[in-house]
Amino acid sequence: MAKGFNVLFVTSEVFPYSKTGGLADISNSLPQALNSLGNDVRIVTPKYGQLDERKLQIHEIKRLKDLKINANGKETKFSIKSSFIHGKNTKAQMYLLENQDYFKNKGIYQNSKTKKDFPNNDERYIFFCKAAIEILEILQWKPDVIHCNDWQTGLIPAFIKTVYNNNDYLKNIKTLFTIHNLAYQGNFPKSMFAKTGLPESVLTDKGGLHFGQFSFLKTALNFADKISTVSEKYSEEIRSDKDFGCGLEDVLNARKKDLTGILNGIDYSIWNPVVDKLIPYRYTYQEIPLKYENKRELLEKYKMIYDEEIPLLGIISRLVDQKGFDLIEKILPQLMKEDIKLIILGDGEEKYQKFLKKAEKKYKNKLAVEIGFDETLAHQIEAASDMFLMPSKYEPCGLNQMYSLRYGTVPIVRNTGGLADTIVDYRKPNGNGFLFNKYDSDELLKIIQTALNMFKNDKAKWNKLLRQGMSLDFSWKVSAKKYMKLYKTVSGSK
Ligand code: ADP
Ligand code: GLC
Repeated sequence: MAKGFNVLFVTSEVFPYSKTGGLADISNSLPQALNSLGNDVRIVTPKYGQLDERKLQIHEIKRLKDLKINANGKETKFSIKSSFIHGKNTKAQMYLLENQDYFKNKGIYQNSKTKKDFPNNDERYIFFCKAAIEILEILQWKPDVIHCNDWQTGLIPAFIKTVYNNNDYLKNIKTLFTIHNLAYQGNFPKSMFAKTGLPESVLTDKGGLHFGQFSFLKTALNFADKISTVSEKYSEEIRSDKDFGCGLEDVLNARKKDLTGILNGIDYSIWNPVVDKLIPYRYTYQEIPLKYENKRELLEKYKMIYDEEIPLLGIISRLVDQKGFDLIEKILPQLMKEDIKLIILGDGEEKYQKFLKKAEKKYKNKLAVEIGFDETLAHQIEAASDMFLMPSKYEPCGLNQMYSLRYGTVPIVRNTGGLADTIVDYRKPNGNGFLFNKYDSDELLKIIQTALNMFKNDKAKWNKLLRQGMSLDFSWKVSAKKYMKLYKTVSGSK
């Protein structure tokens, strides 16, 4: 086996410490998968105000307390706290950065109390990017690669290549930047640029200047040694199609040879009906009647009548435009005429919250809506549903369709990004779900009706589809090795 790499994995979310979406799951599972292949991957992440040190086993280290750093034009104190994420036979070291100026309040990107973005998100992540780099010398641990994720880490490659290029310890460290979502760019008025401490040359089109603003993401795309996205299809879409490129197509095309797509993997010790402790009845693919017990229990919780023959559709999602809620809004009256039940768990934009709560009242006994973030309920919906809806406008990878496959919950998805790379049309011999092409409400309704029809009238076909999905392996086995290959190219060694 090739010698392992030292990698600093920098991320703004890690399950179970902090999570708004899939990035948190990946930041937990990928480092562990890589460590089991002989690498030393360590995670650095903010210690947000809501984290419970006792519950999450976060420890203080005396010599890493009250350190000083210059960020945003002033000196600030911070501490590095330690914790480990664990699997059955795997683990990864976590460094949590504690700081009273930037990460004292409860909330990840939004203040939990006001539900509004923190007004100083620029400063919060400038501090984070600088501190993630400066801790390396303090720890006397040198990575071959700093693996950055999403805009919150976007200034790291530029810092390494400019501010720290005189620092012998840091200057040769290579950077990989993974795009989990190109639409979230960390764009700020350019008047804040001075706070970064980066040279003026970075505030140009070849750096982070983006339609008159300063963009953390664009800065990363121009400075990282290599760039990756979380599925192959998305890596093509963002270069070739304006609807996906979010104004960054040209930058991405200029870096075409440095851009690759690696499909996310799933942690089957967490998302697996055979071992899932959060669901009432655990089951294998030979025990589908137990899946129906989960369906019965969830429907009863929402005071809906259980009938094995009436399909239950599930949605677990951030309530944002990306996830296709405008299509769902359009088709809902017609969908509710079908003999189905629908359970939706979501958190996010108020316009969608309002629409869903209103709809729940109107379609009592058929539709249940839970607004909020609820990890346990997410597992229970995966286990209980017959079908999972994910009509995304775009989807860099998507994890829920892969979770659904393992839970025998047949995905109905739009043919885009990671959904296209994982879901195979039901008409093919290796089919595992239902796909629609155009982002259009009629197409969505039609494909749902096709699925309902098969569920009701062709059980043999349905069961085959469900079992085929359950037998697939989307673990990190393949993708973690691809990251290792990429680390090898990035670091230019080993
Ligand atoms: P994205 O990262 O774009 O939100 P993914 O499919 O990659 O989409 O990952 C979403 C992750 O977040 C999954 O683990 C899903 O179960 C979880 N999730 C999304 N919304 C909620 C919610 N309201 N409550 C609990 N879990 C949620
Ligand atoms: C982003 C994307 C999602 C992806 C996740 C993890 O939030 O929206 O498609 O699965 O990151 O990479």
